[in-house]
Amino acid sequence: SNGSTKAGKSRNIIEKMEESDKNCVVFYGSQTGTAEDYASRLAKEGHSRFGLKTMVADLEDYDYDNLDKFPDDKLAVFVLATYGEGEPTDNAVEFYEFIGSEDVSFSEGASAEEQPLSNLHYVAFGLGNNTYEHYNSMVRNVDKYLTRLGAKRLGAAGEGDDGAGTMEEDFLAWKEPMWTAVAETMGLEEREAVYEPVFKITERTDMDADEDHVYLGEPNKNHLEGAQKGPYNVNNPFIAPIADSKELFTVKDRNCLHMEINIAGSNLSYTTGDHIAIWPTNAGKEVDRFLSILGLGSKRHTVIEVKGLDATAKVPFPSPTTYDAAIRYHMEICAPVSRQLVSNIAQFAPSEDVKNEMAKLGSDKDYFHEKVIDNNLNLAQLLESLSKGEPWTKVPFSLMIEGLVKIQPRYYSISSSSHVQKDKIAITAVVESLHKPNAPHVLKGVTTNYLLALKQKQHGDPNPDPHGLNYALTGPRNKYDGVHVPVHVRHSNFKLPSDPSKPIIMVGPGTGVAPFRAFVQERAAQAKAGQTVGKTVLFFGCRRKDEDFIYQDEWEQYKEALGENFILHVAFSRDGPKKVYVQHKMEEYAEELDKLLQQKAYFYVCGDAANMAREVNVLLGKIISKQRGIPESKAEEIVKAMRASNQYQEDVWS
Ligand code: 2AM
Repeated sequence: SNGSTKAGKSRNIIEKMEESDKNCVVFYGSQTGTAEDYASRLAKEGHSRFGLKTMVADLEDYDYDNLDKFPDDKLAVFVLATYGEGEPTDNAVEFYEFIGSEDVSFSEGASAEEQPLSNLHYVAFGLGNNTYEHYNSMVRNVDKYLTRLGAKRLGAAGEGDDGAGTMEEDFLAWKEPMWTAVAETMGLEEREAVYEPVFKITERTDMDADEDHVYLGEPNKNHLEGAQKGPYNVNNPFIAPIADSKELFTVKDRNCLHMEINIAGSNLSYTTGDHIAIWPTNAGKEVDRFLSILGLGSKRHTVIEVKGLDATAKVPFPSPTTYDAAIRYHMEICAPVSRQLVSNIAQFAPSEDVKNEMAKLGSDKDYFHEKVIDNNLNLAQLLESLSKGEPWTKVPFSLMIEGLVKIQPRYYSISSSSHVQKDKIAITAVVESLHKPNAPHVLKGVTTNYLLALKQKQHGDPNPDPHGLNYALTGPRNKYDGVHVPVHVRHSNFKLPSDPSKPIIMVGPGTGVAPFRAFVQERAAQAKAGQTVGKTVLFFGCRRKDEDFIYQDEWEQYKEALGENFILHVAFSRDGPKKVYVQHKMEEYAEELDKLLQQKAYFYVCGDAANMAREVNVLLGKIISKQRGIPESKAEEIVKAMRASNQYQEDVWS
């Protein structure tokens, strides 16, 4: 490589560090923003506690063939998320392929055996999910490759587990001994941490929020100028009209949405089995609470300019903007509270008592869980309850930008077939609200409640906002007629066999049925068009036949097109005296199931990763063992081989 991008930005990390006088770079491989957030936090902490001169770097933005020249008095930190089935995140693919390559070669031409990275000191933390088979494989493999190349790790390689819900605590527990090791090797003294803002916030009272150049939630310049332009992707959503929306449940107290999103004219395309990303907006109710507890209520529409105080600090949203817009559209204010952020805010408490309580919450993990996590509190709710509503006017807004994750799009399995409706993407989503006994607040899913509000608006519902969530539904500046939602498409490997005559088996309880509605829709259309379609077996589960048996009428239509080849097994978990799950149905039809597998049927699972998908995996081994009269260990190998050859595919979430 020539060390620079087309835009002329240097891709040479060593030069970049030298120019900006840094001795520590924190690289991140991030998909949903968590790894990026952890990277920023490490960079900040390294600076405030140990005087390290840190910068954060997107793995995608640099070249790696000069890592052999990385000076031995500097430090590289790798914060690496593992994605899906043990894959690197999109921004880490190139790095991962480079560093893991058998014939990796560096600028000085040294081969792997010559330990070209023996000057490189590094630290590593991984973000993974133990419900997936390849748990934290990114950090494990990168650590192995770096070691093989002679690099020296300081402290242990950390692993955070999202599956167990302990990511934050794993991170906090890992970093203390890591800092000790870093301080020792690099000869650093810990100092009294003083807060130094990363961003400079200037209130521009000379500007008005109505002015054309002020961002009010537009994700980028094209959107600001009223001419959205593709390509649409994770950095640039398409503001899509919602063509249609309806309620799928017949009960009053729970909602499940079916929405059809129009992507015509966007140049976005999808194939059956892909995911659609929805870019959410925070509920007005929570935006108000957040502004008010920081004492910013009266300044919500004040124009602010946000700049990095350092050339390497990346402002996570476009500026100039307003407090309101930054919070509403760009900051994850409803996510679980980070204990470290609580620690960092303590010094800005409105009184000494509140400060002590904050410090205690920040340092005592169990106490924090009892008071904050078990009570479903978001940050503003916590601050509100501690100060009894008195505003926290001393908290620098920069600390909020640094401490909160930037809002991330949420991915949904597409529930329509691209053959049947290439310009309209369907989603199927249960509206989430989490009640915990005795918790003062009900945790409301940010995105699904936003979608529900959009649906209510589309239908002119007379009672559109029963929970008073008060979402802003017109988008910034009310630029688009009708009901819209910002989206992009993410391609997946969850795919039907290309030959429709192959048999398929699908297991999808609840909204796990989403991609299978697409699969069956597609196969029904193929059958209607005269193609030969193989056995299409669906295991679906819900609570009760007359409450949440979604798409019931559609299955009947598909049955007309597919005839005997479409078989639907439904498990109702709450209709009888005993719970019946999809697993029970699989056991009941074990013989038929195994016969199809022997005919090389594709096997698909979609839905809850933690319990259902895992149990189905185990059960499949047992069924194969019993039906074929082979030991379970042998059957487990067969299941593994099915996964390896893509005969067994999963689309699961936690
Ligand atoms: P339950 O809520 O009555 O326990 C969709 O959510 C359906 O999946 C519901 O009928 C739900 O039953 C069921 N379900 C819950 N846990 C499950 C598991 N571990 N395996 C399979 N189905 C499950």
